[in-house]
Amino acid sequence: MASLTIRKLDDAVKTYLRLRSATNRRSVEEEVRVILRELIEGREEPLTPFAVPPAPSTAAASQRTGALPEASVTLIIGGGIAAYKSLDLIRRLKERRIEVRCVLTKAAQQFVTPLAVSALSHERVYTDLFDPQSEFDAGHIRLARDCDLIVVAPATADLMAKMANGHADDLASAILLATNRKVLLAPAMNPLMWSNAATRRNLALLQRDGAVLIGPNSGEMAEAGEAGVGRMSEAIEIANAAERLLRPPVPRPLAGKRVLITAGPTHEPIDPVRYIANRSSGKQGFAIAAAAQTAGAEVILVSGPVDLDDPPGVTVKHVESARQMLEQVQTALPADIAIFAAAVADWRVANEGEQKLKKTSAGMPPLQLVENPDILATISKLTDKRPPLVIGFAAETEHLIDNAKAKLARKGCDWIVANDVSPATGVMGGDRNTVHLLSRTNGAKDGEIAVDSWPVMTKEQVATELVAHIVRSATDKSLETAP
Ligand code: C5P
Repeated sequence: MASLTIRKLDDAVKTYLRLRSATNRRSVEEEVRVILRELIEGREEPLTPFAVPPAPSTAAASQRTGALPEASVTLIIGGGIAAYKSLDLIRRLKERRIEVRCVLTKAAQQFVTPLAVSALSHERVYTDLFDPQSEFDAGHIRLARDCDLIVVAPATADLMAKMANGHADDLASAILLATNRKVLLAPAMNPLMWSNAATRRNLALLQRDGAVLIGPNSGEMAEAGEAGVGRMSEAIEIANAAERLLRPPVPRPLAGKRVLITAGPTHEPIDPVRYIANRSSGKQGFAIAAAAQTAGAEVILVSGPVDLDDPPGVTVKHVESARQMLEQVQTALPADIAIFAAAVADWRVANEGEQKLKKTSAGMPPLQLVENPDILATISKLTDKRPPLVIGFAAETEHLIDNAKAKLARKGCDWIVANDVSPATGVMGGDRNTVHLLSRTNGAKDGEIAVDSWPVMTKEQVATELVAHIVRSATDKSLETAP
């Protein structure tokens, strides 16, 4: 069987093959096999134009709905053989819902055509600094600033030299000089050019100016028999680097931690239609659940009856009474952190009526109350499955700090979030909260209780602040992952 050395083919065929294989996401070798098969079956495609695949569905959908794309990139394609990989890069970026507008240098057009680039990007392609069509509204300034990131791929030695020295004699360099956006460079050049002192100087300047580099990789060069550092990174590597810059990973400091939260009121039945309740809205507990989830924790929220949507990504157990809440809390253990924000009814009716109580001439029916289980105290006093950090709430209408300190001792928890819920504050059912964090483990000397008073905040801000305190304490040895 004969073998085929791609490098020995003439330039037009090589370029076509590279374009076509990149477009069809096949290796060049695989593409050659497809072409031969098509030829034998008598259904070969003409050499130009090559087939352009449909746009990825997410981008198409966003175009259809008119929804704003999540991020946008100006992609400057420099003149080098690696330019063929930039066609694949366009697709990779669009797959990630990144809108791409492309600029081709004069040299780049020797390797890829504006038509191919525009077909893949679904946008017009920019090639000229003095293009009356785009320059009437300062096109190069728009390309430089109406994007979230500029990617230069391939970043040739020449383009990097121009950028390092502030040249602006063509569209690509003018954009690079006019931009206030981050620039990601994917260098591609011959290993000797890469190691040349001039390139090293330019590179040092560019990095000092804030440009970010991806690659180059080492490997075989397009030039016969040459190998070394200088190959442009693969499209997928460049797209990943661009995405990291556009959408930096959200810190998830509570990843691997299991957080159990109670929220809302409880309803204690009197008979099948009546119950004892309180004014708790559940907003604070739900906000804490959402904040802990955002911080990466696995969150189980045991909620009494509330009028709130379940926070996304949180496991919610809906209950009615205090006893049901305790049961769900016990089932959810072990946990690393337990936060008891629910306004649990202290008492329930001992003799709950099986039928609706009737008005009688004998007057009001006697309601005998019995104490509910104290969930916070029960869990704080566990010996085996006690979470390493147990946080309670103290909603008080008078002597806030003194009552909260007494509660911390009585319940046996580690922290108390104390808040004034007297009617004038509007905390109950409202959106804002003024809290004090009392802790035994947080900066307090032995036997002392530290009181950290926070300014008035939204319940979401209180939640974020509380989670930030938990994260800081999680670095303590005392808070280790539950078994
Ligand atoms: O005793 P008091 O109701 O003021 O205590 C408030 C704290 O105790 C809150 O954290 C609340 O969630 C918790 N609690 C509980 N079970 C009860 C009563 C209160 O978990 N039965």
